[in-house]
Amino acid sequence: MPTYRIAPSILSANFARLGEEVTSVIAAGADLIHFDVMDNHYVPNLTIGPLVCEAIRPLTEAPIDVHLMVKPVDRIVPDFAKAGANIISFHPEASEHVDRTIGLIHDCGCKAGLVFNPATPLHYLDWTLGKLDLVLIMSVNPGFGGQKFIPTALEKLREVRRRIDASGREVWLEVDGGVKVDNIAEIARAGADTFVAGSAIYGTRDYQATIAAMRAELEKV
Ligand code: DX5
Ligand code: ZN
Repeated sequence: MPTYRIAPSILSANFARLGEEVTSVIAAGADLIHFDVMDNHYVPNLTIGPLVCEAIRPLTEAPIDVHLMVKPVDRIVPDFAKAGANIISFHPEASEHVDRTIGLIHDCGCKAGLVFNPATPLHYLDWTLGKLDLVLIMSVNPGFGGQKFIPTALEKLREVRRRIDASGREVWLEVDGGVKVDNIAEIARAGADTFVAGSAIYGTRDYQATIAAMRAELEKV
């Protein structure tokens, strides 16, 4: 069985008690904290920045997986690295120089990921896959939690899985948007190994039961 990782998105957490919401999902068995950064410019919503990343950093040893939905990208990368991010992913349309941004993220000591919106073609992988640590396939249009999974993401995941396997490199394949207990197995079968889930986890009372149910589904793959 591949290594599967569950990454709760704190976008759906209760921000009035964010620290507790971070520690409780990790105690419930999550592997990463997915940290959604929206700028009301690249996406139509405004969320959290490096200060919040810095504030939650001491609460867990789990990697903080920063998903930048911002334009421009480069200016904010060093700030997130200093704030303790482990992985920084960005959307290629939001960067003038994709290769440079990947290099910048690495120079800051973080792993680098490239994010594909539902309508973004995969050609951005042609000359970048050899440098990436993670590919993130969006299965909703970015900006909000609680949206419905867009099924074409499955075909895209299969294609990216094929490219990653052909590269012989260890690259995580993450999926983000509308991931639930009842579709996680199908998404894993399409090749994803890292699953962002916001509303599916934070919208339930018992985080441990939900994460265990996701893992039970993954066992069936
Ligand atoms: C959407 C964000 C997601 C979001 C997922 O733009 O990137 O990470 O929190 O939320 P759910 O799991 O509720 O679809
Ligand atoms: Zn996200």
